[in-house]
Amino acid sequence: MSPAPLLSVSDLRVGFATEEGVVQAVDGISFDLRPGEVVAIVGESGSGKSVTAQTIIGLTRANNARIEGSVKLEGEDLLSASDSDLRRLRGDRIGMIFQDPMTSFNPVYRIGDQIVEAIRAHRETSKSEGKRRVVELFEAVGIPNAERRVDDYPHEFSGGMRQRAMIAMALALEPEVLIADEPTTALDVTIQAQILGLLEQLNRERNLATILITHDLGVVAEVADRVLVMYAGKVVEEGTLDEIFYDPQHPYTWGLLGSLTRIDRPRPHRLPQIAGSPPSLLDLPDGCPFRPRCPHEFSKCPQYPGLEARLPEAADHRDRCWLTPEEKKAKRLVEGQIGLEPPPEVRQA
Ligand SMILES: Nc1ncnc2c1ncn2[C@@H]1O[C@H](COP(=O)(O)OP(=O)(O)OP(=O)(O)O)[C@@H](O)[C@H]1O
Ligand SMILES: [Mg+2]
Repeated sequence: MSPAPLLSVSDLRVGFATEEGVVQAVDGISFDLRPGEVVAIVGESGSGKSVTAQTIIGLTRANNARIEGSVKLEGEDLLSASDSDLRRLRGDRIGMIFQDPMTSFNPVYRIGDQIVEAIRAHRETSKSEGKRRVVELFEAVGIPNAERRVDDYPHEFSGGMRQRAMIAMALALEPEVLIADEPTTALDVTIQAQILGLLEQLNRERNLATILITHDLGVVAEVADRVLVMYAGKVVEEGTLDEIFYDPQHPYTWGLLGSLTRIDRPRPHRLPQIAGSPPSLLDLPDGCPFRPRCPHEFSKCPQYPGLEARLPEAADHRDRCWLTPEEKKAKRLVEGQIGLEPPPEVRQA
């Protein structure tokens, strides 16, 4: 039996009041995260990925935000937790890694000192003990010459090393949950692969529960167990990594797979990228918000289907598309063989 969820997000909604109206950035997202599991949230720019992550850790609490639903960490409701409880919890139980570590480190202080201070904000530790801990962390995340590099300033680190230092900082207090928002986007492909490898290793070794946010399904393929595909604030498809890659059900997922850049394997198909751009959240069409861009739109699409399991053999593989599984399979074949041929290693597993 799978372990109980560490983090449970249930029907989370986040709307921002703006002069033009309410921007419903997150519109009813639910998922569970278990120890050792990597849940990926994928989607184009503006789909609500970061707002989801930020809301979990209380960073969207502002006058213009309306937050509904629930976020529970081992049963404790984070949405109603006090600001001070949340501050205590950030870093301590939930670590965070962001896209650009340059903005996460203050350029005028040594990297090591900044991590020591982050530790000392939560734990009673001497400076020298803290520094020893940072050296250990640097070694764990693969920063060479850790003893010496703890005294460097942020600009003395390369992009990849800065990202490793950011990961060291996120792990400093041994959190149970790690939230990584586009952790490799700013890096070139080789470094990206190294950082993803490191995240996967840490995840395994420390039994971390990880939320990985990215617009790139190639990144997801490297490390995720489960995948949530978001479009305009809603999950349009969710399933295991293999289900999303080898039996994708939603035409939007097919589009994302079409724009895939895989590090380790050639593209499995020849699809064009998705035409058009994501909709304005202030002016969504009725029904499925993807329909203006969807080549398969038909008479039912002005109503939005629920997120449901539509394949008899896969109870946790859900999507929001009215096409029948048979129609989807046929259309996928026409579109370019997406997902129909799992590579040998997956078939054997
Ligand atoms: N404070 C805010 N006030 C108003 N709108 C906001 C606010 N914060 C975010 N939004 C809007 O919410 C939507 C979702 O934003 P979010 O940052 O979650 O997107 P994302 O999926 O992370 O995209 P990206 O890939 O570009 O990072 C966007 O339309 C954004 O403009
Ligand atoms: Mg984002």
